[in-house]
Amino acid sequence: MERVVLLLLLLPVCCGHSDYQGKVMTYYTLETYSDGSVLMVIRYKSNSKRCYINNNWCPPDGCFQVSYSFDRIYYSAEGFCQFDSIWTRNASSQAPFMMKSKSDLWTSPIVNEVTVAGASIVVDLRKRSDTGQANRCPQTTILPVFRVPYNCPRDIQLLSFDPDGDLVQCRFANDEIDPAECANCTLPSVLSLSSSCTLSFRLSSSSSQGRYAVQLVMEDFPRTQITLSQTNGQQEVKDNTTSISKIPVQFLFLVEDAAPSCTLGRFLPEFIPPTPEHGTEIGVQVHETVDIQIEVQAEDARAWELLLSGPSRINVTGSGGHYVLTWTPDQAEDGQSHPVCFSAQAFVKQVEANYTSRLRCVIITVGKVVNKVWLLSPAPLPEEALRSALVKKVKMELVKLGLRINVSLVNRILKSPPAKSPPAACQNL
Ligand SMILES: *[C@@H]1O[C@H](CO)[C@@H](O)[C@H](O)[C@H]1NC(C)=O
Ligand SMILES: *[C@@H]1O[C@H](CO)[C@@H](O)[C@H](O)[C@H]1NC(C)=O
Ligand SMILES: *[C@@H]1O[C@H](CO)[C@@H](O)[C@H](O)[C@H]1NC(C)=O
Ligand SMILES: *[C@@H]1O[C@H](CO)[C@@H](O)[C@H](O)[C@H]1NC(C)=O
Ligand SMILES: *[C@@H]1O[C@H](CO)[C@@H](O)[C@H](O)[C@H]1NC(C)=O
Ligand SMILES: *[C@@H]1O[C@H](CO)[C@@H](O)[C@H](O)[C@H]1NC(C)=O
Repeated sequence: MERVVLLLLLLPVCCGHSDYQGKVMTYYTLETYSDGSVLMVIRYKSNSKRCYINNNWCPPDGCFQVSYSFDRIYYSAEGFCQFDSIWTRNASSQAPFMMKSKSDLWTSPIVNEVTVAGASIVVDLRKRSDTGQANRCPQTTILPVFRVPYNCPRDIQLLSFDPDGDLVQCRFANDEIDPAECANCTLPSVLSLSSSCTLSFRLSSSSSQGRYAVQLVMEDFPRTQITLSQTNGQQEVKDNTTSISKIPVQFLFLVEDAAPSCTLGRFLPEFIPPTPEHGTEIGVQVHETVDIQIEVQAEDARAWELLLSGPSRINVTGSGGHYVLTWTPDQAEDGQSHPVCFSAQAFVKQVEANYTSRLRCVIITVGKVVNKVWLLSPAPLPEEALRSALVKKVKMELVKLGLRINVSLVNRILKSPPAKSPPAACQNL
């Protein structure tokens, strides 16, 4: 109860600050009750200058059902901070709903003249015909800040992962599509965005330096036609032209003074093995600790910092370009996928400037352990019957995943395919 009171008290305070630097929101279903109500979790990462908590959302039926806990996940002396807050909410039905944020003020000055931040999220918790489970939204996260030297073009591939296997698409927030997506919607002129969520920063001039507000929307589209249903029998068909949910992705993008060289690994830090590749999915069990080793290289750099965004309780140790991230999921995180993004920042003394690496992200999926299979029978089964019952059970599971029922078993040795060397054009990337 105390936490709820705290949230309500924060509301009038938060909106006066011009401290806002972005946010990303995702959601999960924890439990669906027989009366159609749904217990859900909303994870909210908010960026701000002075580490204030700007999670000022209110579901249409009021805030009183919302509680939250928060954790400061990143803080830099330069004034970039990210908080992760976790809300649980008992929604009265599975019907999709929209929430919109109250207005925040972006940390000024912003080159694309965005002062007021607005954002909206569409939550859809209905059961999907393809997975048999509640819909899940795209998963992503952002860093407290992105920065590039104005003379170094860069493609930023945002993490866009969907646990249901949907196609994830990005677009700039557009008040003609939904007036709540953005209050001031001027696009950042230095950036273009592909629907597959790659932001491209073009070669610019010194006059393009400054801070830009980037306001995006990420949506999930089913790959084939599916039906979404509620426990009360109501249904809706969605095909690959209509999105199911949408989440806001907003952040600050800094265009800074020219770098003496854009070569990765010299002034601009670069990730080297064994750092996992961008988009790698890592599995971990509840209470098990996942370790992610990160190595950074930049010949002319002196001091280093790892900028990180991930779930609460993620821990970074290390220094000087060698880091280990550790995280231990708890029971409440079972079955969820958590995005982790990082980038390395290095201080180059000869030019007195900080440079950041490309963005690298991984997905940590917290799995359920299957260590028992139950076969019901009135009496203990002989070995052969046990074997065929197990095969039948495995086959049923495969059919659920899309195996055609009339496929026959083929007992043949398959040679492993020859290792392919990448085409010459790709080798230098
Ligand atoms: C959520 O609401 C349902 C029905 O309204 C109730 O059965 C359930 O106990 C509630 N769950 C929590 C955690 O409050
Ligand atoms: C920014 O948004 C606010 C709130 O909607 C509005 O009052 C203001 O006129 C907008 N400013 C610009 C430059 O669009
Ligand atoms: C949508 O589905 C139709 C029919 O299956 C297919 O022809 C079309 O290419 C799909 N469009 C996209 C954008 O995937
Ligand atoms: C992070 O790791 C360090 C070194 O292993 C340890 O001392 C510290 O307690 C850890 N912090 C958290 C929040 O787990
Ligand atoms: C570089 O980054 C460090 C650590 O974040 C900060 O203390 C320093 O002021 C920055 N220097 C410049 C020139 O931006
Ligand atoms: C399997 O079933 C599908 C439709 O149910 C049919 O089109 C196909 O010909 C069948 N294949 C075999 C090998 O029997």
